[in-house]
Amino acid sequence: MGNKTLAIIKPDAVKNGYTGKIYHRIIQSDYKILSAKLLKMTKAQAEGFYSVHQKRPFYNELTVFMSSGPCMVLALEKENAVNSWRETIGATNPAEAADGTIRNDFATNIQENAVHGSDSDENAQKEIAFFFSESELISTQ
Ligand code: CMP
Repeated sequence: MGNKTLAIIKPDAVKNGYTGKIYHRIIQSDYKILSAKLLKMTKAQAEGFYSVHQKRPFYNELTVFMSSGPCMVLALEKENAVNSWRETIGATNPAEAADGTIRNDFATNIQENAVHGSDSDENAQKEIAFFFSESELISTQ
């Protein structure tokens, strides 16, 4: 059994029709999908999820964006899942994301950057628990 991370296919990527392509990349990169669901966050949910950023100047705009449309949240498992997923998605700013990363290929800009990934094992645990109950963490693979 590997470590876990939370991934979000953000509203820009869903709106642009990239959900299937990104889901496929997740499978191709050997992550186990423990759970996945499509949801539309309320503004309050987005604020709660990104509460660590509440002092940042982009906090309001970010939470407006994240509650602007449907997104897909996924609990992923793989060895070294947090760092591995961060490598798969690339830098926060797509202009700086390496070739072949998800953000390089699908992101719009630094805010509407297609996908989210947890930044530590501790936060991954909290973020997965934010969206999923224990009984939802199952795998078909
Ligand atoms: P994410 O990995 O979900 O974590 C925090 C999010 O804040 C980030 O992706 C971006 O969507 C957003 N973000 C980070 N830096 C900036 C910035 N300088 N301007 C606007 N949005 C940002």
